[in-house]
Amino acid sequence: MNVNSWSKNLVSGYWPKREPNSHKGSHGKVGIIAGSETMPGAAALCAAAAVESGAGLTTVNTLRSVIPIVAGHVPEATFYYRDDNLNGFLEGKDAVAAGPGLGRLSDDIIEDLITNFNGPLVIDADGLYKLGSHEDLIRKRTAPLIITPHAGEMARIINKDIEYVNSNRYETAAKLAADYGIYVVLKGPETIVAEPEGGLWINHTGNSGLAKGGTGDVLTGMMLAFIAQGTDIQPAVSNAVYLHGYAADYLIEQGVAIETVTGSKVINVLSESFQAA
Ligand code: APR
Ligand code: MG
Repeated sequence: MNVNSWSKNLVSGYWPKREPNSHKGSHGKVGIIAGSETMPGAAALCAAAAVESGAGLTTVNTLRSVIPIVAGHVPEATFYYRDDNLNGFLEGKDAVAAGPGLGRLSDDIIEDLITNFNGPLVIDADGLYKLGSHEDLIRKRTAPLIITPHAGEMARIINKDIEYVNSNRYETAAKLAADYGIYVVLKGPETIVAEPEGGLWINHTGNSGLAKGGTGDVLTGMMLAFIAQGTDIQPAVSNAVYLHGYAADYLIEQGVAIETVTGSKVINVLSESFQAA
């Protein structure tokens, strides 16, 4: 298998431009469908990461009870009630992400999104729980679909065990990407990005400080923002993976103890990480 490494010079070569006369509409309107009563933080982390990664307007679709929590962390975000018409929410969105902290009972939203959203769609976390049952709908989709499973989520999608995924990482990512015609981001140490046409990329940034709940939600928000700013899908996805890991490495360089790395701290050093890359 031909695997390429995503590197620093590629990151800067695919950086979204900000023209002096731009406005918020030029930098992407993103939608995030995330959060539930027991997992409000996932929505907050995902939205904060999208805002910090340059998205022009970030709207979070969530439960009414979750809105004050997310708004308290991310004052830049706007909101849409989970129960309101999904097509209304999707209108004008340049890219949408769904899944962080969504809960596993929300699969009707995922099915609806796969069918009705005609822009780039990122599905993560709980949104992946029943992904395999939507195989036919996914194949019919023409707009890009990006999924971001860790090994456990991947195993469930392809109906194998985690050990199988861990010992066949390239093969499982490449096969699912080709079978479904989607981008597969198989997370873990050395995250793999597999393109629907066969391209395979490996990332070398990041450390085990990232092995903590919440860091995946941050990656999803970063990826969503880069995609919505107009970068081609694979470079946008690979840039997010690279810079997410880079930020974690930067924290260690700055003297942060590896046990104390968090998704929130990663968001706090995105600025330094973007400057350095
Ligand atoms: N080295 C480098 N990067 C790592 C490492 C490691 N040892 N471990 C994890 N990471 C990175 C991954 O590549 C990924 O980008 O940290 C991120 C973790 O993302 P997730 O696994 O999605 O974690 P998250 O969703 O934030 O939290 C765990 O996943 O298993 C579910 O339901 C469970 O809520 C839990 C959630
Ligand atoms: Mg996750």
